[in-house]
Amino acid sequence: MCGIIARVGDGDAIRKLVSGLENLEYRGYDSAGVAVQNGSGISVYKRSGQVSELKDALVGSVPKGKVGIGHTRWSTHGPPTDENAHPHTSQTDEVAVVHNGIIENYAELKATLSEAGHEFTSDTDTEVIPHLFEYYLEDADDIESAFRRTVRDLEGSYAVAALVDGVHAIYAARQGSPLILGLDDDEYYLASDVPAFLDHTDDVVYLEDGDMVVVEPTGVTMTDLAGTRIDRDVEHVDWDPEEAGKGEYDHYMLKEIHTQPNALSNTIEGRIQDGEVRLESFPEGTFDDVEDVHLVACGTSYHAAMYCQQQLADAGIRAQAYRASEYVDANPGPVTEDTLVVAVTQSGETADTLGALRQAKEAGAQVVTVTNVVGSTAARTADEALFIRAGPEIGVAATKTFSSQAVTLSLLAIRLAEDVPGASPPDDVAALLDDVYDLPQHVDQVLKTSDARAVADSYMDSQSYFFIGRGLNNAVAKEGALKFKEITYEHAEGFASGELKHGPLALVTPDTPVFTLFDGAGDGKTLKNAEEAQARGAPIVAVASEDHAGVDVADDHLEIPDTHPVWAGLLANVQLQLVSYHAAQLLDRPIDKPRNLAKSVTVE
Ligand code: F6R
Repeated sequence: MCGIIARVGDGDAIRKLVSGLENLEYRGYDSAGVAVQNGSGISVYKRSGQVSELKDALVGSVPKGKVGIGHTRWSTHGPPTDENAHPHTSQTDEVAVVHNGIIENYAELKATLSEAGHEFTSDTDTEVIPHLFEYYLEDADDIESAFRRTVRDLEGSYAVAALVDGVHAIYAARQGSPLILGLDDDEYYLASDVPAFLDHTDDVVYLEDGDMVVVEPTGVTMTDLAGTRIDRDVEHVDWDPEEAGKGEYDHYMLKEIHTQPNALSNTIEGRIQDGEVRLESFPEGTFDDVEDVHLVACGTSYHAAMYCQQQLADAGIRAQAYRASEYVDANPGPVTEDTLVVAVTQSGETADTLGALRQAKEAGAQVVTVTNVVGSTAARTADEALFIRAGPEIGVAATKTFSSQAVTLSLLAIRLAEDVPGASPPDDVAALLDDVYDLPQHVDQVLKTSDARAVADSYMDSQSYFFIGRGLNNAVAKEGALKFKEITYEHAEGFASGELKHGPLALVTPDTPVFTLFDGAGDGKTLKNAEEAQARGAPIVAVASEDHAGVDVADDHLEIPDTHPVWAGLLANVQLQLVSYHAAQLLDRPIDKPRNLAKSVTVE
């Protein structure tokens, strides 16, 4: 996720671009830049660091220009350096571009352009766009058709805005990443989100995938990628600029729960090709010498690690998930150069996880981190990093990052199963990979139809909340309970469903609702475990697909779409996120900043 902004109108653009970027910083904050058109070429100012650093650098040397673009970055390709910051320019600096998304075919485009003599100066996928645009400008009839040709060549997701030297216009298009047009009396904006220009206008047009716009001081031309004129409705938003970062949501947590379809699309993008898993730094054969896998992580990331451990074990790989804080003392057995240690950490800065990672490195293991933050300590310390691409998460309670971690780790598990001697991917791997494409849409369906608020309301004032599941859903049950306790301050526990009868059943009363997770694997036993709790008076909430046998037994039902068992738990998790959120809201808790907790725990 990154934030882009563009502005066309009277008066200087730069201050408006920078203040727009400040309002987009929730989308990324590892580097920032602006470019303006000012009659003597395109002036580009960019640097690694936050927007405030860019702003400080511009003091005293504010470049003039009525038309400009800006960007705040959340790195996906290449670390957060000055060179990798946007805007990116073309070979002769004729074109400058900002981009949010991932260009999947950038390597092929780069190769073709390199052959044509173009030289690249960054590690980004974005840089191919200005070069390609300039390449097509050379023999195009007009700028608009050169831009259209450029955009048609891009595979992947993008919201892109471009400047051309000497032309007072912005060329922009969207496919899979948000782009919104803001219309004021004498100026126009384009941005990834409304807060970027809400101080100036609240009349907006939400562009759709495949839309292309040319914004000039005199008006806006909208077409599709075939060049056919289109019209979109102008809508009026009535948000308070102060609160606008959350958009229409009351809390960042709710916004982040609702942006999971988009986060998951980014996570998956380009990582499955021709029915096979393709992970950037891990080509076939990378893990040929791996004998065992240790996953180290804390909190929610630990639950994602458990999710992966189960899949590795099912594939016949010796694997164990460790709580990072325990790893140092856990005596995990011999750690050798054939041990793969996977440090799972959203922030990449968790002290316990970094401690485990460093210990594994010193012991000679191969160390990989699965993280959300490109420039993080974990990413810089591990031998290789695999990014979950969920975008910044502001709410302290991890939501979208759990989903993106679990999917990334599931793909890594398949990669490992193909390489590790003696292991094999699941028999139905093709179906599994087919269904992951539907995951964003299935999450969307859950978000649109969930009864979580009513269920949360029915069980307010319970004594304790239990979450049970088997196999992969054991991890989800524990994650559901963690989320519930951290934002409601109510007591909640997650159990492997078969464990209830070995002790926790003593706590079960009519005052302990049991959220029971069914994913289509081992459900018969889980159902029996739920009935055992029900026989002691506990209400059962089945989190299951529509026609599941558990629904007939349960007192309440939270429905999930039919899918492969590997993804079903992630849909159940979304229902549980919503239950926790609504329960916390009914209790009037400070949802985004629960007491005593921090987003990044940098102490051991
Ligand atoms: C719970 C939560 C924490 C983190 C944990 C690890 O909602 O957010 O449990 O998961 O502190 O943080 P990372 O993943 O940044 O290492």
